[in-house]
Amino acid sequence: PSLALTMDRDPGGLPALRAAVAGYLRESRALRCTADQVIIVGGGQQALDLAARLLLDAGDVVAVEDPGFNGADAALSAAGAVLRPVAVDDDGLRVEDLPTAARAVLVTPSRNFPLGVTLSLERRLGLLAWARRAGAWVIEDDYDSEFRFDGRPVASLQGLDEDGRVVYLGTFSRALFPGLRLGYLVVPPALADMARAVRGLLDGSPSSVHQAALADFFDEGWFAGHLRAMRGLYAERRSVLVDGLGDVLGDRAPISGADGGMHLVLQVPDDARLVQALAREKVEAAALSRFHQGAVSRSGLVLGFAGWPEVLLRAACGRLQRVLVSSGCRLE
Ligand SMILES: Cc1ncc(COP(=O)(O)O)c(C=O)c1O
Repeated sequence: PSLALTMDRDPGGLPALRAAVAGYLRESRALRCTADQVIIVGGGQQALDLAARLLLDAGDVVAVEDPGFNGADAALSAAGAVLRPVAVDDDGLRVEDLPTAARAVLVTPSRNFPLGVTLSLERRLGLLAWARRAGAWVIEDDYDSEFRFDGRPVASLQGLDEDGRVVYLGTFSRALFPGLRLGYLVVPPALADMARAVRGLLDGSPSSVHQAALADFFDEGWFAGHLRAMRGLYAERRSVLVDGLGDVLGDRAPISGADGGMHLVLQVPDDARLVQALAREKVEAAALSRFHQGAVSRSGLVLGFAGWPEVLLRAACGRLQRVLVSSGCRLE
């Protein structure tokens, strides 16, 4: 690395990478941001932690999606937040059920984690209007929006925000790989200096060598090419899994959330017991009920497809069928 790189200590992140990320987000996610609003962090989890430290005081009420990402809830709770779960339906977070007073809301509007539903435009506008009324922050976790296979791409909520209330975060864990530990937080201009100061107090910033390599990856066009290739590959793997489930379960296969991302949901009763039975057959699945906080409203298997070759996805479908039969599970 160059000597400058060995000494770089900008707590907001390497300027070349911040510029590349801002350009990418403006173009592909319709964000309204400059490089000064981008803070490079060590992945999505640290982005959530930084957002919580920046925006919340102990005892603040934060509305979260139910079901939602447990790691986000943990970061908010660690900052002392009091979580209020709000149900998610086919149009995303039920904005009409948000509490009248809250300090913030955490949402995954492009694709709810784990259901994979998209927040409708009407609800997006309703959410921003609620935030204005409540004087609340909106934390937008855009964790896997790079991968959308059907329909039109959905622009970010941040791009619709007129009041500087949305703090946006993303990660390279899915677009590239989780071990890279790089992600970003995009804050409103009024919060940028504070965000850099808080970021600096954590661990300075991620390795400038890794940041420089990623900046080059963007500037030389590799990132765009990689995304194009992965979109094609993951769409193919998604279809293999959907077809494989259809083959073994027939039109009884109640699948949802398969239009993008890296996993889909197969609705089954008694998910926790099935996950254990599948693990004995060396098939990895997560129980949908695990991601609920309130009264469990849905049971299902969260099945990843992006990281598995076709032959393994097909084999997993056969094993799944055997497990369903041997455990006497009846699909609706
Ligand atoms: C919805 C959601 N947000 C954030 C994260 C955290 O991202 P990272 O793995 O980059 O820390 C994850 C990780 O699985 C996630 O599913």
